[in-house]
Amino acid sequence: MDTGLKGKKVLVTASTKGIGFAVAKEMLKEGATVFISSRSEDNVKRALEELRRVGEAYGTVADLTAPEDRERLVKEAVNAMGGLDVFVFNTGGPPSKSFKDTDLSDWELAYKLLLESAVHTTKLVLPYMLEKGWGRVVYITSVAIKMPIEGLVLSNAVRVGIAGLLKTLVREYAGTGITFNSVLPGYTLTERLEEVLRKRAEMEGKEFEEVVREVEEKIPLKRLGRPEEVAKAVVFLASEAASYITGAFLQVDGGLVPTLF
Ligand SMILES: NC(=O)c1ccc[n+]([C@@H]2O[C@H](COP(=O)([O-])OP(=O)(O)OC[C@H]3O[C@@H](n4cnc5c(N)ncnc54)[C@H](OP(=O)(O)O)[C@@H]3O)[C@@H](O)[C@H]2O)c1
Repeated sequence: MDTGLKGKKVLVTASTKGIGFAVAKEMLKEGATVFISSRSEDNVKRALEELRRVGEAYGTVADLTAPEDRERLVKEAVNAMGGLDVFVFNTGGPPSKSFKDTDLSDWELAYKLLLESAVHTTKLVLPYMLEKGWGRVVYITSVAIKMPIEGLVLSNAVRVGIAGLLKTLVREYAGTGITFNSVLPGYTLTERLEEVLRKRAEMEGKEFEEVVREVEEKIPLKRLGRPEEVAKAVVFLASEAASYITGAFLQVDGGLVPTLF
């Protein structure tokens, strides 16, 4: 399949590890130019070293909860790549907590990290796509927007806002050549998942391995996902092959979500 991504300029946020990093790598394999970011300079350096073995990659340090960092990030990406065609919004996950353990500062942080950052960065990138009359926006969210996940009340409650945002953007930007879609990862083996499952094991007084086995048992494909399996779905939605797909929520979850829609 020709993805048509060769030469396209792709910004992937929160992308020095895990799913975001895998997306950057898969985009490079398609011949795209990539710009990555995260909060730690060391992580950015290490990730760029690996990505530059695959293709043309740039990056910067930026905290997605800080409005001034978001503005600088998009400017730097456009300057480094000479434009912007594809925007893949990824972000760090909020802390793993039950409702009773959260206070208002947790909710404020979750809003900034998961929703305000998506709204703001989308506002910043759209002018470049409108100028070209072509663009792709892919939000990496979670199966939590279809099926609340135990111990992740912040993600369960705040991420659904992206679903409403996405469906609205599809209509508001109709006829502009820009598509808006979301990929919903299920349990995917990254540092973040390990942290979430360790916390769950601690809360339930179980061994980590036991919790992993319990999770795998609930997944029809009987295993955790790999970051590159999520990344390939993102590449597809950003590609020419997905030219008639907009407003879609694509689960990459081994069959975990049991609902019809
Ligand atoms: N893994 C799963 O099973 C799973 C399932 C469903 C949804 N998700 C969601 O998918 C997203 C990615 O998950 P992951 O498992 O790939 O996580 P991960 O392995 O922890 O990687 C997160 C990446 O985001 C960066 N980051 C974190 N907070 C940031 C911030 N405030 N600003 C900028 N960059 C930030 C991290 O780098 P720095 O630390 O250097 O900033 C890192 O590069 C998360 O939102 C997660 O909740 C994951």
